[in-house]
Amino acid sequence: MAKTKVISVANQKGGGGKSTSVYCIGAGLALDGKKVLLIDVDPQGDLTKMLGMRKPHDLPRALGDVMSDVVSGKEIAEHTEIMHHHEGFDFVPGNRALSAVETGLVNVMSRETVLRQYVDSVGNIGGQPYWSWYGFEGRVEWCACFVSWCSNECGYIENGIIPKFAGCVNGVQWFKDRGQWADNSIEPTPGMIIFFDWDSPNGSSGPQDGQSDHVGIVEKCENGIVYTVEGNSGDSCRQRQYSVGYYEILGYGIPAY
Ligand SMILES: Nc1ncnc2c1ncn2[C@@H]1O[C@H](COP(=O)(O)OP(=O)(O)O)[C@@H](O)[C@H]1O
Ligand SMILES: [Mg+2]
Repeated sequence: MAKTKVISVANQKGGGGKSTSVYCIGAGLALDGKKVLLIDVDPQGDLTKMLGMRKPHDLPRALGDVMSDVVSGKEIAEHTEIMHHHEGFDFVPGNRALSAVETGLVNVMSRETVLRQYVDSVGNIGGQPYWSWYGFEGRVEWCACFVSWCSNECGYIENGIIPKFAGCVNGVQWFKDRGQWADNSIEPTPGMIIFFDWDSPNGSSGPQDGQSDHVGIVEKCENGIVYTVEGNSGDSCRQRQYSVGYYEILGYGIPAY
């Protein structure tokens, strides 16, 4: 969501034209070819009604519900609350579930970031920015696209420090060919590329076979714990952690930064 612009329309006074402005600005930007997500933060759900949902309070899932999920630390697996409008933009409906969130927020840590955490999760699920940047027309398993995308942002691909790769196996081979490979017994340093070989006999990646199924970036290693950043971890970008030497870690690619 780095390049996303957020526009807030806020005023204590009712009837001042907030909802109307949001609708007009959103529709205008969409006409202009922008990707737009409108978020109705009003418990009355006026914007939601304007956009055609006549009974916002009957919706199974709206902004209040997803904000509650953020507060309770529940993972948002897919964004079923996002609706599409025929004028070419998407919106998150609002309804009176927001009132409950508002009172519940009083004693929540970092409550001022709850909406932002929700918005950040929108760009993080599904990996579209990463696989489409790579050149795919539709979703693929995108862990390697994510690593490649990050590398490209840092200029490491053009400098030959990290390859542009979409298949984990190709990534492993690239590092091995250059003698820049370490097995899972080492304590990795920040920026190493971590490759996994999942032990999931009945899953899509199958039993452990020495072929990498997943890849991420090492953030740091402290007190025997490897901290990573991974794309396509449950279809999201996530920070994860493992013990040094954990058996599903296949090994590490060591970029010559
Ligand atoms: N630029 C405008 N000119 C005239 N009427 C407007 C304008 N903007 C909004 N309105 C009208 O004012 C009323 C309140 O607007 P609304 O967007 O619902 O305000 P808010 O969201 O601030 O409560 C609505 O009836 C709307 O149609
Ligand atoms: Mg309004």
